[in-house]
Amino acid sequence: EKGGYEWFMLKEIAEQPRAVADTLLGRHSIDGHLQLDEMRLSDDELRDVDKVIIVAAGTSYYAGMTAKYAIEHWTRIHCEVELASEFRYRDPILDRSTLVVTISQSGETMDTLMAIRYARQQRARVLSICNTNGSTIPRESDAVIYTHAGPEVAVASTKGFLAQVVACYLLALYMAQVKGVKYGDEIASLIAELEKTPAGIQRMLDEGDQVRKLAAQLAGSRSILFLGRHVGYPVALEGALKLKELAYIHAEGFAAGELKHGPIALIEEGVPVFIVVPPKARDQLQEKIVSNIQEIRARGARTIVLAEDGDMDVVPFADHLIRLPKVPTLLQPLVATVPLQIFACELASQLGHDVDQPRNLAKSVTVE
Ligand code: F6R
Repeated sequence: EKGGYEWFMLKEIAEQPRAVADTLLGRHSIDGHLQLDEMRLSDDELRDVDKVIIVAAGTSYYAGMTAKYAIEHWTRIHCEVELASEFRYRDPILDRSTLVVTISQSGETMDTLMAIRYARQQRARVLSICNTNGSTIPRESDAVIYTHAGPEVAVASTKGFLAQVVACYLLALYMAQVKGVKYGDEIASLIAELEKTPAGIQRMLDEGDQVRKLAAQLAGSRSILFLGRHVGYPVALEGALKLKELAYIHAEGFAAGELKHGPIALIEEGVPVFIVVPPKARDQLQEKIVSNIQEIRARGARTIVLAEDGDMDVVPFADHLIRLPKVPTLLQPLVATVPLQIFACELASQLGHDVDQPRNLAKSVTVE
């Protein structure tokens, strides 16, 4: 049951520290050696992999976009991400050394399942990241890593998403370990950073009131935009998707660097824009996005800035400032997504919509 929450979605948002911790649990030893028991692909098979193609739909696709940054950075293996519904229609180049990674909360998404069948026909190996034990997608895959988010009831995915990002990162680190490009101490320190994120997520939950107030102020908006760079880009896309599906408000996410190539024309007086600012440690990225914020604010946008503690550069340009805990860049989506989920849920609720069962949507999309 809903455990005292108004919506399953709120309950599932609140369960995210646990979902992340449980997905990390028992998968490594103190010296940083990763063990993924359900892996079912031998180390030799993994060492042969020269290309990873991530295939997924919707929110799971955004988890895949996030994972691409980590996989390429940590393993130095080429990685592509593709929508499941597009994948098999473009004649993709696959062979025995291609690892197709599918991501699915339900394990029943037909687009993703058809992509798996296609990839295996082409002799690629398929590893699935899935939240549902015994569902069709893991059964039809060569290997599986389960996310341990627990059952997700609300149609909009929340804890499933964070757990997917974590599972993808575990896979990336595991491949780096097998390939010998990362060693125990490095892996151990990255795992230690991952293990700190549940506390950071909890803090975002505890500070949810500011977001709820913001939702009340912005409930009359016709359109809301989201900007991000690097792993903040999929976070922006996810923030926009949540708002579309729950609040039925027009919302779009953009890569901030693309603004001047078109979307900046959408900026007009009063349009709310969420901006996910990369950590200060990524000074070039951070500086660029600060100038983006300046640009859109000068054109009348109402800026809602998500930036880490201590980033003072953004302060003069933020109409609303949402503080994030300091985390390594690749882990920022795990904390930055949370206020966007709360925002969409709250805004939809204020508009009187059924948050758990949005119109026209189903939890498992079992048709193509
Ligand atoms: C968004 C949402 C959908 C799913 C998508 C894939 O909140 O829930 O976009 O993420 O339909 O579903 P799975 O992960 O079950 O394959």
